Amino acid sequence: MNKKVTLIHGDGIGPEIVEVVKEIFAAANAPVEWENENAGQTTLDEKGELIPQSLISSLEKNKLGLKGPITTPVGKGFKSVNIQLRQRFDLYANVRPAKNIEGLESRFYNVDIVLFRENTEGLYSGLEFYDERLGIADSISRITDLGCERIVKAAFEFAVKHNRKKITLVHKANVLKLAGATLLKAGKKIAVDYPQIEMDDIIIDNACMQLVIRPERFDVLVTTNLFGDILSDLCAGLVGGLGVVPGANIGDDVAIFEAVHGTAPDIAGKGLANPTALLKSGIMMLNYMKENEVANRIENALHTVLKDKEKRTGDLGGKSNTSQFTQYIIEEMKANK
Ligand code: NAI
Repeated sequence: MNKKVTLIHGDGIGPEIVEVVKEIFAAANAPVEWENENAGQTTLDEKGELIPQSLISSLEKNKLGLKGPITTPVGKGFKSVNIQLRQRFDLYANVRPAKNIEGLESRFYNVDIVLFRENTEGLYSGLEFYDERLGIADSISRITDLGCERIVKAAFEFAVKHNRKKITLVHKANVLKLAGATLLKAGKKIAVDYPQIEMDDIIIDNACMQLVIRPERFDVLVTTNLFGDILSDLCAGLVGGLGVVPGANIGDDVAIFEAVHGTAPDIAGKGLANPTALLKSGIMMLNYMKENEVANRIENALHTVLKDKEKRTGDLGGKSNTSQFTQYIIEEMKANK
């Protein structure tokens, strides 16, 4: 039976890459029925609503979503839709794997990192105040025991399930004595239940340096919201960039899968977007649904096409536009039926 999934088309290149996922899922007979919804600049312009109630109801009902990128204005304007959805549905685990794709050139060839970023608190708690009289902006980074414990636990559970060996907590407890120590304390508490998994910790600045020198030494990383946001882009850069890495926002009740990249306004509407990251997010979603067979079939076809440089999209040095790239993947799936 098909599972209903809320599909958020997004802004910029969002609708273009969402269409690709729909086409490829249909060709693969993936057991998914899409419920089309939207949020962001597009719905704000069209309906005067940033996050329509129909989207909230659809996610409440389906508990599963795939999301195209959404515009967030810099310095002014509306609050990030991504952050609002993460907080509204308590999607506390932002999971971002960064793994080499065979045949795809990158800076390193032995990277297989999964980053667990706490997604609802820290500097992105939304506690910002500006005192015009004094010219002071305060952004409160709220870190809680509960928040740290559940993200650490999610990482350990993932490690057990996927046969990973080591978890590294990334923090700044040397300076942020209280907030940093909260993550470390959670690590110590949760690790007791998982003696088979090794755990260590590293200060964020050192982690950045080690990641760009010896990324192969890392396995599963766990960190707070802001550090995770930055580190996940860094990790994407290790394996070929934002165009090829997926992401998931997972809570106890609802999960929304999305590419890490943004709306790419510079190429929107030109048919040039690379749909790989959103397609990989869709593949992650299928695995989450335990539809591993169809997930593997799509992923194998995608990886085979990516091996051929000519067939890639322009951002990866290839000659294909979005539609040609999509057809190559569909042909590859048909050839290997
Ligand atoms: P961006 O990721 O949209 O673009 C950065 C560069 O990468 C651009 O040159 C773009 O053309 C290229 N690029 C990104 N994705 C691509 C793809 N799939 N195929 C080919 N090229 C691709 O980052 P930027 O410009 O900083 O942000 C644009 C907007 O996206 C902003 O409003 C930002 O807030 C939003 N954004 C939304 C995210 C989300 O919804 N999850 C995440 C990051 C940014």
